[in-house]
Amino acid sequence: MKKTRISAPGKLILFGEHAVLYNRPSLVAAMNQRLFFEAEKISENRIIIEAPEMKVSDFSRCLKDLNKEQKKEVKFILTAIKNFFKKYKVETGLKIKTQSQFSAKYGLGSSSAVTVCTIKALAELFEIKIMEKEIFNLAYQTVLDVQGIGSGFDIAAALYGGVIYFLTGGKIIKPLKVKNIPLIVGYTGIKTNTSEIVKKVKGEMQKNFEYYDKLYDGIAQIVEKAKTEIESVNWLEVGKLMNENQEILRRFKAPSLKYGVSSKIIEKLIGACLRSGAYGAKLSGAGVGDCIIALGNNKKKIEWAIKKAGGIPLLVEIDYQGLKIENL
Ligand code: PMV
Repeated sequence: MKKTRISAPGKLILFGEHAVLYNRPSLVAAMNQRLFFEAEKISENRIIIEAPEMKVSDFSRCLKDLNKEQKKEVKFILTAIKNFFKKYKVETGLKIKTQSQFSAKYGLGSSSAVTVCTIKALAELFEIKIMEKEIFNLAYQTVLDVQGIGSGFDIAAALYGGVIYFLTGGKIIKPLKVKNIPLIVGYTGIKTNTSEIVKKVKGEMQKNFEYYDKLYDGIAQIVEKAKTEIESVNWLEVGKLMNENQEILRRFKAPSLKYGVSSKIIEKLIGACLRSGAYGAKLSGAGVGDCIIALGNNKKKIEWAIKKAGGIPLLVEIDYQGLKIENL
């Protein structure tokens, strides 16, 4: 029966995490490690999923049970399917297979990549013409259904690729004119629970609104400057702005967050990068664990420093290709 294969890139947030949840801009980038997604219509009324990177094999769910609580590992796929069926008034059984070039534990956006792939694959299978912004809206709705909160920056990166100026909920999605950024990425070895950190920060913000509002305004100003400096290929300045953004993230207050949304291992990796000549370095994402990013021209030296400090350098670059239909 009809079959399709789609792929989407992973992502990194360069500037503006957390603040982007509260109507502030951010800068995000797609990475050249992709998630591949194959879907085939089947005659049975069920969804069958194989997702080895999520350790899911032979998963099967009846179409009539799509509204029930779903297993964590397949939640994004099933919720995206449910939302698509509802919006376009269609339905079919499906056999799905995913294959990822990056581990889901790195926080490089496997959930957003799989969500946009699911929606595009269904549009292909049902021969429905779907605009990119419609994919964004449906995918963003899916993320909100699953996580309750999220800015949608990861969806934009998976969908459009490249480097993007992004405002909360996709109110602005603007590609930056930049060929490449000398980025170095290091994994801390710790998986971040984004929703948990976001909720903690939100709780604190409700107690101390003005304090956080000022931090977010500070981040927003850095984002605006960074946009200009990136487009001017002024890496020294961009590095300085990364350090300034990191300094604000250290000032986040919440119980059990000793270093703001930074952490001991993040600080260790950042310190190692700066000592080896990086122009700047900061956490990327919700913080505490996942990845750090650094900027510098001596990539090899900085990667080695990350390794020595206990992190894992990830050999990634910016991917200018977003969501894509692949050959079968
Ligand atoms: O942890 P990540 O890579 O999913 O990034 C989270 C970034 C936040 O701003 C904290 C949340 C969001 O959805 O923008």
